[in-house]
Amino acid sequence: MKRSAVCPGSFDPITYGHLDIIERASSLYDEVVVAVMINHSKKSLFTVEERIALIEDVCRKFPNVRVDSWHGLLVDFCKKNEIPAIVKGLRAVSDFEYELQMSQMNHQLAGVETVFISTSPQYSYLSSSLVKEIATYGGDVSAYVPSSVLTQLLKKVKA
Ligand code: PNS
Repeated sequence: MKRSAVCPGSFDPITYGHLDIIERASSLYDEVVVAVMINHSKKSLFTVEERIALIEDVCRKFPNVRVDSWHGLLVDFCKKNEIPAIVKGLRAVSDFEYELQMSQMNHQLAGVETVFISTSPQYSYLSSSLVKEIATYGGDVSAYVPSSVLTQLLKKVKA
């Protein structure tokens, strides 16, 4: 049986921290679906289509990774796609409390398991929000996002 997992997130935009987790998940599972979760109450810099295109571009090198989007509960996405596991990166203890709560809720709701991968130390302080803020004020974020993402990000913040 094919082992599948989902890597969910906002990916606004995808960073090297996300990519680290996606790459490591792709070595553990036969198929990894990166799911861009749509949340209309959260203001985003990139449209869902732009986020998907950027993720597809940087994940092209991983043949068992595909990209999708979803509006609604993550467990419903898992049910629809027959995915039994969610993979999440854990950066620090501060991530843990909320992630634990979500993992327990998702298990309770639909029996979906959450597998945590500890973020590589060089990305433990990295977040899309910080990258956007730094780029907005003219800081250098080239160490945190792939070049295709950087190009689009700089266009957005200069617009
Ligand atoms: O990149 P983010 O914004 O930290 O990702 C959080 C995300 C989108 C993975 C999480 O908010 C989520 O799973 N949202 C989908 C809606 C849902 O299932 N909510 C109930 C969680 S128990």
